[in-house]
Amino acid sequence: MKIESLKSVPAGYINTPLEPMPRLAAALGLTKDAEARRMSDTLTVGLTDAPTDDKANASDAASHCGLYIKRDDMTGLALGGNKARKLNYIVNYALENGYTALMTFGGIQTNHGRLTVAAAVRYGLKPILVLKGKKPDYLSGNLLLDRLMGADIYFADTSAADALPAAEQAAAKQRYVNECAAQIIAEYEARGDKVLSVPVGGQTVIGSAGYIQAIPEIMAQMKAQNIRAKHLVVGYGSTGTFAGLWAGAKYYRAPFEVIGIPIEPDYRPVEETVDFINELSEYFEMGFTCRKEDLHLEFGCDSADGCRPGDSLSAVGGTVGQAPVGYGGVGYNEPDAVTESYIELLARTEAIFVDPCYTGKVLHGYVDLLKRGVIRAEDGAIFMHTGGAPGLWTKEHLDHMQERYWSDEEKDHVHIFNL
Ligand SMILES: Cc1ncc(COP(=O)(O)O)c(C=O)c1O
Repeated sequence: MKIESLKSVPAGYINTPLEPMPRLAAALGLTKDAEARRMSDTLTVGLTDAPTDDKANASDAASHCGLYIKRDDMTGLALGGNKARKLNYIVNYALENGYTALMTFGGIQTNHGRLTVAAAVRYGLKPILVLKGKKPDYLSGNLLLDRLMGADIYFADTSAADALPAAEQAAAKQRYVNECAAQIIAEYEARGDKVLSVPVGGQTVIGSAGYIQAIPEIMAQMKAQNIRAKHLVVGYGSTGTFAGLWAGAKYYRAPFEVIGIPIEPDYRPVEETVDFINELSEYFEMGFTCRKEDLHLEFGCDSADGCRPGDSLSAVGGTVGQAPVGYGGVGYNEPDAVTESYIELLARTEAIFVDPCYTGKVLHGYVDLLKRGVIRAEDGAIFMHTGGAPGLWTKEHLDHMQERYWSDEEKDHVHIFNL
């Protein structure tokens, strides 16, 4: 089947903004301050309301800053994020095939889970979440939003498998989650439902269509705004987003290379992603073959297996204690001060929020690659913002940020008047 003939529903918005980041560029010393100010002042004219000549000037000026952000945090569905593009296709498939419930999987604070619940609610499907881990005592972040939307939530506590030899743990945990899922599906089916089981991250061929199709959208925006870019930097998690973008870039002959930043040290093997990209190519008759050496991932240190002391990392922050950390931080969704410094950097330059689990790490990679000259602002580099901001309000991250932002009034720029 040709990708162009695949149908979707509008669960989330597409055509998200592609914007310059002049103040980030200035903060990184990549443009002169005055130039950055001029560019952002021109932009305040408003790209949509300005007369055509002003629009052209504004977009020309903006295009010179070299750093751009694709705002897929603004896909609209339940506070937005990358999974909306995948769900546009997955929900259409569910509706066309008579499913009555959407079930998906993830960590306790899964953004993908939140968006899947939201898409189910909007299309009259029953939302079911199977979360790997113990039920937290305190409700926060995405989990609160899941409850607000009325999801049925199942916790699959796999901690007993931690006692097994390390090599057996992952398979044992997965087996248990699969058993739980089978039991849940049987219960729903006994009540007359038909349950579509969506894998972690919406990582399916149909779901990745959303990101294949993001490529012509970005190319059209670049053309309309006179933007040149040789690089597009995106997170590498369950990898459907990266794979879709990579396949789309190849198929539509994008002028940029897609660079993946693993969002945890324990990342998905590249071989599996290559296989998945080739599956996309075959399914959508795209006519290319991907090889391992065609993919470009960046880890933040010289070794793909982890950081060694002395590996060079960004001046904005690259160590936790004495230990260097790669872009993927210290672990999946584990708070770390380096990632937090990048969250702060974008908030204080562009007033845009990235998150501690995914996009803060990708921003770390994006900035560090610019600083090290692996990618160059002169060539144009797009940061793909895939959402996740509700992660900022999860208890573990809130607890971690108290010390950084709320422990000393002078340091925190907090002032108190008393009557
Ligand atoms: C905010 C955010 N960014 C990036 C990703 C990674 O996307 P993918 O799983 O498609 O690799 C996720 C996955 O859940 C996410 O929630």
